[in-house]
Amino acid sequence: CLWVVASVALALFIMLCFGMAKSLYTIPLKIFIGTFNSSLDLDLTPMKRIQASGLSLASDPAGIVNFLDMVTNLQGDSGRGYYMEMTLGTPGQKLNILVDTGSSNFAVAAAAHPFITHFFNTVLSSTYQSTGRGVAVKYTQGNWEGELGTDHVRIPSIPGTPTINIATILSSNGFFLPGVNWQGILGLAYPLLAQPDSSVEPFFNSVVRQTGIPDVFSLQMCGAGLSDSTTADPAGGSLVMGGVEPTLYSGSMWYTPIKEEWYYQVEVLKLEVGDQNLNLDCKEYNQDKAIVDSGTTLLRLPVNVFNAVVEAISRTSLIQDFTSGFWGGTKLACWLKGETPWRFFPKLSIYLRATNNSQSFKISILPQLYIQPITDVDGRLDCFRFGISSSANGLVIGATVMEGFYVVFDRAEKRVGFAVSRCAVNGGLAVSEILGPFSSADVASDCAAGGLLKEPLLWVISYALMAVCAVVLLILLLLLSCRHRDRSGEITDESSLVRHRIK
Ligand SMILES: *[C@@H]1O[C@H](CO)[C@@H](O)[C@H](O)[C@H]1NC(C)=O
Repeated sequence: CLWVVASVALALFIMLCFGMAKSLYTIPLKIFIGTFNSSLDLDLTPMKRIQASGLSLASDPAGIVNFLDMVTNLQGDSGRGYYMEMTLGTPGQKLNILVDTGSSNFAVAAAAHPFITHFFNTVLSSTYQSTGRGVAVKYTQGNWEGELGTDHVRIPSIPGTPTINIATILSSNGFFLPGVNWQGILGLAYPLLAQPDSSVEPFFNSVVRQTGIPDVFSLQMCGAGLSDSTTADPAGGSLVMGGVEPTLYSGSMWYTPIKEEWYYQVEVLKLEVGDQNLNLDCKEYNQDKAIVDSGTTLLRLPVNVFNAVVEAISRTSLIQDFTSGFWGGTKLACWLKGETPWRFFPKLSIYLRATNNSQSFKISILPQLYIQPITDVDGRLDCFRFGISSSANGLVIGATVMEGFYVVFDRAEKRVGFAVSRCAVNGGLAVSEILGPFSSADVASDCAAGGLLKEPLLWVISYALMAVCAVVLLILLLLLSCRHRDRSGEITDESSLVRHRIK
């Protein structure tokens, strides 16, 4: 009796812990698709594409990768995400894969869905191997379930065909959206975020281990504020695997340390609207973490920070009569055609800790990046959306900001680099800036206390509570069932106590 009750209680306890651990993670994918329908297109200067001139292998001494081949290998925009074409399986099946630095699973549609045109047919790939293990991922927006397997993948200009873990998406909710042109997601963050657990080696870890390219990738997203570009000329971008391509940026590259390796967690020291320091306690900016995430459309700010930013922007913009709907993201602001509103708005600066701990640098975005044109509602108006939203789960440097910069995810050196992107241009004007160094003497030595460290603590507390519950439950069950058996005098072979007694 004791054994049965104990093992049941133990199993229950383990299940509770497991369920708890799983539900604690939601991945911050939050793609904004064009909710504002329109048949008319915006009259914007066409995207400036980078002209490749000669080889640039400076950053890859081994010379095994030609970064220029990877320039403009992305399509998409901040609204619907940036994706790249990949070839999966044998014979190869081509799929468009969303690039997401805020999660760690490589997952592709493996069954039909109304919003996607095609999917990865595992039966047709002779090299696909199922592990039979189930997997599920929940994002801020949407979720999916499927099965884990492995297969070969071919990435243009990366040598060989590495074998990688693939989660095949068999069912999903709110994950594939109407109008998106991708069928899978490439999670580029660290193993700690991989589902069902960190033993599922993420895509980029596998590629680095099997091909020997340096443990660095970099991302240039060229939408420059176009939240919903026309399908005829979609904005592009570049995902450079294995290094840094010098032709994609101008000026210097500034690096900020990665605080913890799960998301790309960085430390925000200060925020400025125009020239005005928001002057919040710097811990507010990193509440409960600050991350760099290409899979999130907007710049997302913790509620307190968001309110302060909106207050400062409305004060500086001289436009008093904006409805709260505009700031809240439910309403557009429209001007007569040709009357661009950007001159009314201040620039926004985020100070990041430099690799020299006593210094910082600031990345600034002009209103062209955060007051985003939406295809016009009627022919006479140009309408805009506010590209910043409030967040309950930390500060997210999403596509709205990333479009201003060439961002280097230097995992080998545990740092994220920012430089002014050569495609962050609107009407001939640069829409982003980087300045530094600044002294960080006026801010706390650690603005990001908490984050990952806080989470295990939460787990320990919840486990402890559950353990107490389980023990109480166990004792109760034990008392009830054992007493019951004693009274009825029932003897069964299943009870080890009884067996011992018989012996
Ligand atoms: C770091 O920054 C401080 C303050 O600007 C400076 O005095 C110091 O020399 C820097 N250290 C290094 C290693 O560059």
